[in-house]
Amino acid sequence: MKRITAAITGVQGFVPEDVLSNADLAKIVDTSDEWITTRTGIKERRIMKNGASSDMAMEAVKGLLDKKGIDPLDIELVIVATVTPDYPFPSTANLLCDKAGMKNAWGFDLKAACSGFIYALSTGVQFIENGTYKKVIVVGVDKMTSILDYQDRTTCVIFGDGAGAVLLEPNEEGLGIQDFILRSDGSGVDFLVQPAGGSLNPPTHETVENRMHFVKQEGKQVFKFAVTNMAEVSAEIMDRNNLSSNDVDWLVPHQANLRIIDATADRMGLPKEKVMINIEKYGNTTAGTLPLCLWDYEKQLKKGDNLVLSAFGGGFTWGAVYLKWAYNS
Ligand code: UT7
Repeated sequence: MKRITAAITGVQGFVPEDVLSNADLAKIVDTSDEWITTRTGIKERRIMKNGASSDMAMEAVKGLLDKKGIDPLDIELVIVATVTPDYPFPSTANLLCDKAGMKNAWGFDLKAACSGFIYALSTGVQFIENGTYKKVIVVGVDKMTSILDYQDRTTCVIFGDGAGAVLLEPNEEGLGIQDFILRSDGSGVDFLVQPAGGSLNPPTHETVENRMHFVKQEGKQVFKFAVTNMAEVSAEIMDRNNLSSNDVDWLVPHQANLRIIDATADRMGLPKEKVMINIEKYGNTTAGTLPLCLWDYEKQLKKGDNLVLSAFGGGFTWGAVYLKWAYNS
């Protein structure tokens, strides 16, 4: 019997239509287009004025199912990576299954911040490879504007809202996900965290007054960890799969900072043309960045292309996925 691998057989993104440019932000906080562009590579980001993460996820999933001509009732499992769920409970996946008509599916949310999509993808793969399911949807979505402090110039300029969804199906040609390396280090909690709203600091007047429900980041520290670990884990997955820089067709990096992306590409020996970049128009959409990159570059991808997906995020969490693209569009 042929070995079954799990392949991405479709991708669709969704970003809200409202644009917040660097110039717009300079009217709200003490910043400038020049600072944001040179330090991060971001020019603008999308912001969702009405609605929740499940609404962006629904748009992505509906678009994906339409494009593939698949009945929502055929979807068996939905995994949603997000740190901005609609509610603490029920899960966003639960709401999404209802909103997108996936009435036969079950699902759950997975929280790994900016590494959420690669964690969720690697989890979804298991259900296909072991033969349990034939149609799994993996979503990366975040409405970061719901937890951003527009008085904190060090964080509010970085993030944006967006969603991306992929379909996973069995493959008998050896295409799809080949390998993954996932890591975590909880001692990084203080460097990138939403301090209140959970069981440690439930919401009180004080947590609100002290602005503890917003993202807090020590950018410099996170930068140091990110730049080292994202490059390291990307090189490691190449090594253990005997991939040279010539063998890798695309790096699909988390879009947090252009300087981190460049360092990762350098470490892998990849020229700019092989690196997916859309940070300038969406900023950091947390779990949304990787599927949004795949969506933007889908038409350029060819069956058999070797892709390395790589991310670093709050937790700390980080990792890389090596996959062979399974279709021409
Ligand atoms: O996606 C999850 C993981 N997150 C990341 O990977 C983010 C990693 N960190 C970064 O990307 C960068 O650290 C940032 C983009 C967040 C910041 O860039 P930086 O080069 O590390 O700047 P910095 O924090 O060292 O700040 C340099 C200066 C400071 O002023 P002083 O102390 O030198 O006078 C900041 O106060 O820039 C100032 N600054 C700003 N100035 C204008 C910080 N934010 C801004 C701003 N506009 N928005």
